Amino acid sequence: MTPMKPHDNLSIDHLKNISQWISNIYDLNQLLELVLETGTRIMRAKASSLLLLDQKTKQLYFKVTTGDKKDEMKNFAIKLGQGIAGHVAETGQPLLIEDVAKDRRWYRSISDQIGFKTRSILCVPMKVHDKVIGAIEFINKTDGESFHQNDLELLTVFADLAAIAILNARKFQFVERDNTGLKQTLDMNHSIIGKNKLIIKVIADARKVADSTASTLILGESGTGKELLARLIHAASPRKERHMVTLNCAAMTESLLESELFGHEKSAFTGASEQKIGKLELADESTLFLDEIGEMSPGMQAKLLRALQDGIFYRVGGNTPISVDIRVIAATNRDIAKEIIKGNFREDLYYRLNVVELRMPPLKDRKEDIPLLARHFASLFRREKADFPIEFPQDTIDKMMTYDWPGNIRELRNAIERAVVMGNGRQILPEDLSMISAEPIRQHIRIGMTLKEALDDFKKRFIEINLKNTMGNQSKAAEVMGIQRTYLSRLISRYRIPKTL
Ligand SMILES: Nc1ncnc2c1ncn2[C@@H]1O[C@H](COP(=O)(O)OP(=O)(O)OP(=O)(O)O)[C@@H](O)[C@H]1O
Ligand SMILES: [Mg+2]
Repeated sequence: MTPMKPHDNLSIDHLKNISQWISNIYDLNQLLELVLETGTRIMRAKASSLLLLDQKTKQLYFKVTTGDKKDEMKNFAIKLGQGIAGHVAETGQPLLIEDVAKDRRWYRSISDQIGFKTRSILCVPMKVHDKVIGAIEFINKTDGESFHQNDLELLTVFADLAAIAILNARKFQFVERDNTGLKQTLDMNHSIIGKNKLIIKVIADARKVADSTASTLILGESGTGKELLARLIHAASPRKERHMVTLNCAAMTESLLESELFGHEKSAFTGASEQKIGKLELADESTLFLDEIGEMSPGMQAKLLRALQDGIFYRVGGNTPISVDIRVIAATNRDIAKEIIKGNFREDLYYRLNVVELRMPPLKDRKEDIPLLARHFASLFRREKADFPIEFPQDTIDKMMTYDWPGNIRELRNAIERAVVMGNGRQILPEDLSMISAEPIRQHIRIGMTLKEALDDFKKRFIEINLKNTMGNQSKAAEVMGIQRTYLSRLISRYRIPKTL
């Protein structure tokens, strides 16, 4: 092995320059410029290019260029194997050419077109794990000499370093892009969409109460976004660093609910083989979201009330008092006032829970939000993130606006999810939305009616919902029902079905 000679081209300044690459991995373009600029100075070259290989098209394109004609260079791309750089990228071997005019491989067309007099070229591949990702090329020395073997050795090491820096920068970019994507998805899942004044007021109130520890009761029909609001309050509160703990009070028996809430000691009851920490304890210094509180049995209500009033409780089977600092948010879709009158819900617990009461409006009271929400869900569910959003033609919007959405936003969300899957990927058409046809026909049949009256009643309603489903389009409705259009129009006049439904 020949001993390493100190290279007279390389100064401390150059090394400092190279070390800057490390801190520049956040911006790939800036990094590439820095790489080439440093190289050009070390080599004392008149012009230089950094070419990257596009793995799909197998073309090298000029990513960064220096020299008098640097801007013109950017218009060119060269094929793998074409010219000096193409040859280097194809073989993975560096090339030092003292006089290009004498070399068959030289692709003179570019120099001719831009009017640059090329004489000597030094070109090295950039490789990552033996795979060529591009090439660096230097043209003509400033002193008019040609490049030497010495230059080539140095440039090879330099290109290796550059390749690693580029690889890291690319990785960083990917991670960053993933991260932004994930954050956006998270935000999308938790943001409350709406411009209706009722919902804006609820959100404003929620933000106001978020700062305090006041117990908050969220009322509203099923699927109106009560849980979403609870999450918003928690996320806007000083407790946001901790996880919000959720307990669904409807999903279990009283004894299971009790041990879920308070936890239990080992062998507190048959089957309790381990100690269990309850939700109250888990939510210490955080928020406890008691969902569907209206379903809680009176016995459990009493136990919960005591724990909330005293701020202490015992695990099931335990005798050590546990004290916690908890912010409670509860939610129910029941008419809680009615439940109190009926004796199903304790009034004292109600007052404890609803220091602040927030009411989520049903979707039919905020119809202007339907298109907004629909577009939001469409972008959430679309299979591939394309640049253009899914379109909602006017008749689709009309169909959504005339429907009452008894299942509220959850129903809308499900309907859009289904429509995105079933639809053509670009638009959601009225027929992609299946919610209206799923509406049950209310039964009006009574004893005392003749069979003919009952059948007529059924037929009339059946035609009405089908016409509603097709936005009054008789041909479509007839097709769906499997009857002739002319027969349908006869039935419409016989039953005096209004033209506008
Ligand atoms: N304003 C909104 N913007 C965006 N998404 C919403 C909005 N409101 C509700 N959603 C979505 O609709 C669905 C139902 O909301 P959520 O679970 O909060 O309703 P809920 O009132 O708790 O229903 P239930 O009483 O049935 O438990 C969720 O997927 C939620 O993300
Ligand atoms: Mg809920």
